[in-house]
Amino acid sequence: MEKIYLDYAATTPTDPEVLEAMLPYFSERFGNPSSIHGFGQETRKAIEAARSQIASFLGAKDEEIVFTSGGTESNNTALFGTLWGNAKKGNHVVTTAIEHHAIIEPAQFLEKQGYQVTYVKPDAQGMVSPDDIAAALTDKTVLVSVMHANNEIGTIQPIKEIGRIVRERGIYFHTDAVQTVGHIPVNVNELNVDLLSLSAHKFYGPKGVGCLYVRKGTRVLPFLRGGGQENRRRASTENVPGIVGAGKAIEICGRRMATEAKQQTVWRDRLIAEVSKRIDHVYLNGHPNLRLPNNVNFSVEFVEGESMLLNLDLFGIAASTGSACTSGDLEASHVLLSIGRPHELCHGSLRLTLGRFTKDSHIDKFLEVFPGIVAKLRAMSPLYEDKKS
Ligand SMILES: Cc1ncc(COP(=O)(O)O)c(C=O)c1O
Repeated sequence: MEKIYLDYAATTPTDPEVLEAMLPYFSERFGNPSSIHGFGQETRKAIEAARSQIASFLGAKDEEIVFTSGGTESNNTALFGTLWGNAKKGNHVVTTAIEHHAIIEPAQFLEKQGYQVTYVKPDAQGMVSPDDIAAALTDKTVLVSVMHANNEIGTIQPIKEIGRIVRERGIYFHTDAVQTVGHIPVNVNELNVDLLSLSAHKFYGPKGVGCLYVRKGTRVLPFLRGGGQENRRRASTENVPGIVGAGKAIEICGRRMATEAKQQTVWRDRLIAEVSKRIDHVYLNGHPNLRLPNNVNFSVEFVEGESMLLNLDLFGIAASTGSACTSGDLEASHVLLSIGRPHELCHGSLRLTLGRFTKDSHIDKFLEVFPGIVAKLRAMSPLYEDKKS
């Protein structure tokens, strides 16, 4: 049975070209980039080349890129580092109710430490209004953090407009672009951001490596302290193979992203149209078109998300109920609750995310088996029987 992977938002497979670029840095090119000798100079050069690849993709300067261990560390650094570095300005952060846990959890921790946090709610399609962000700003606001696109429902936020408002007020603006980098254009100047997080495993690079873009002049104190790596902004010996892989992965995305996004949009819209046509009581989560090209998210009434996943798995199809972090537990998604979905619909969600190695036949197979799965599960649901009669 062919295995079909429709969970690219959870993680992407490492591109073979990326792996090939990384391999020498696990063997003969092993030097510590902080060492003065030739071994060290060789890996230092590789890191700087990767930094340039990422900076060039984002429209940033090389020195504005700080390598980290991934999206989570980048988000934590953006929050803590900016507050620590600007304590005299205030103690208030504005974010949204639909951020990834890698923002929500540190924000809640900050509240326990005495900071003020405002969580702005999105509308029913998951869109955050720039006016609502503006209304939440106070004289004590140091940082605003709004994700570029949501990892569960795919809605793309008006980052450019929010950035314009926030930066006019002299407040720093961070965006979690973990789901967008490598999938849609991301330019730090066009988006009006001071800080931006990305993670290589979401764009066909390796896991455990990412970076934080920090606009020149933004005061961010280090989150990890120790050695003087990354210009004293992030201690610890660099993950050289990972960084090389991240650079290569972004370079490939630069070449292929536009074509891939176009193809994925066709598949996405076909899935949305066909599922809505073939199955009753199905609701699309997220914005109908201002959404990631590769994201489909439905709530299927009278069915449990986990049951759909298990049944799809029997056909070799890998999907998700939402974010990888929440799909392991049975708590309703904070994102779906925030857009006003009732609990029953939150528990019946299914996310399909497409990518570089998706084929037409994968979409065909999903559409062939999914209506039968839903019918089988609904046949066991007394609520569905009541609804029909
Ligand atoms: C929007 C978003 N932010 C942050 C993260 C965390 O990234 P990482 O797994 O690299 O720590 C993820 C991962 O799922 C994500 O989707």
